[in-house]
Amino acid sequence: MLVGKLITFEGIDGAGKSTQIQLLEAEFNKLGILYKTFREPGGTDLSEKIREILLDKDNLELYSNAESLLFAAARAQLTVEQIKPAIAKGECVICDRFTDSTIAYQGHGRGLNIKNLEMINNIATEGLTPDITFILDIDPGKASERMRAESPDRMEAAGIDFFQKIRQGYHQIMEQFPYRCIVINAEQSQENISKEINQIIMKRFKEELTCS
Ligand code: TYD
Repeated sequence: MLVGKLITFEGIDGAGKSTQIQLLEAEFNKLGILYKTFREPGGTDLSEKIREILLDKDNLELYSNAESLLFAAARAQLTVEQIKPAIAKGECVICDRFTDSTIAYQGHGRGLNIKNLEMINNIATEGLTPDITFILDIDPGKASERMRAESPDRMEAAGIDFFQKIRQGYHQIMEQFPYRCIVINAEQSQENISKEINQIIMKRFKEELTCS
């Protein structure tokens, strides 16, 4: 039976996840590996609508608990509608953010109870966990310099202290799940980061990836 893999990318805003995901897609295309890519929150019609609410700068009255549940609702929909069916077909699913974002942002960043968030995550994913998670690690000051040109969304407007807490949160997640989570120094060149990621994926999953 074919079983796909769930590969997730995590890190603070401006860490360079989108670029690395594009480079991984290019590598998978080259090798003929079957994959689908999703971003969180988003990836289904309903989840994209929830995304608009979450990132809207006018929604400053959104309470942290309501925020967590909206992220979870978007994730629940994406998991059932897209991720699980793709994995069942043997495809690789690349996800730009997943459950660890909730632990890092709502738990460590906003200070919500981590055990409760783990439970909410578990409901949203029906117990599905990533096979491998790349945490792109970068100093929040450097990350915000990278993003300076863009206008900040509701999350990005939160400030450096918030991102410092999230970065530390990701370090704790990595300590808790040392096999699943790989921390990558995201201050290196894009080429080096991409090479490191490709090598780790091939070493861990080479025989198991489904090709066209
Ligand atoms: P996005 O523009 O996709 O940012 P990025 O490119 O950095 O992923 O916006 C997603 C924002 O939502 C980002 O600031 C992280 C935040 N987020 C949470 O706070 N909790 C979550 O569970 C998820 C999935 C995202």
